[in-house]
Amino acid sequence: MALSVNPEHASYLILAASQVFTINVLRADQQSLAGHFGTQSCRTVDKLASIPWREGGTGAPVLLDALAYFECEVIREVEAGDHRLVIGRVVDGAVLAPNAPPLLYAATGNLDGSAELYPKEFCEGQQET
Ligand SMILES: Cc1cc2nc3c(=O)[nH]c(=O)nc-3n(C[C@H](O)[C@H](O)[C@H](O)COP(=O)(O)O)c2cc1C
Repeated sequence: MALSVNPEHASYLILAASQVFTINVLRADQQSLAGHFGTQSCRTVDKLASIPWREGGTGAPVLLDALAYFECEVIREVEAGDHRLVIGRVVDGAVLAPNAPPLLYAATGNLDGSAELYPKEFCEGQQET
């Protein structure tokens, strides 16, 4: 699995120090949870304090109420402009809600403030939540 992260984000420092991360796949009905994690920084709020989670085998947090998760160990990091590509080997994971549709990035609209980077058509045909 790969993720692209801004090294100025506080979570990047945690990732770089621990060399592990979890990709928690949200359900389509968890848009507000995407906002919870994606619009505030752990520099100012403990984002896990109000969310049910457990420590996975790698030590990285696994959300209890989500569609699925992938626990990963970092195997490579590549500079990519103002972000870093972090490549991880999946060492554990599970599907928690097999019948639930996933929350797609396109369905988050402009939640991350990046809409101007994409063609307008990107958000057409968004899934209903
Ligand atoms: C839908 C969505 C997707 C996002 N994707 C990324 C991403 O791929 N990489 C990244 O560095 N930040 C991404 N962000 C922004 C961070 O989640 C956001 O800046 C967050 O507040 C950083 O928190 P931290 O300082 O605790 O790391 C995304 C935000 C949203 C809402």
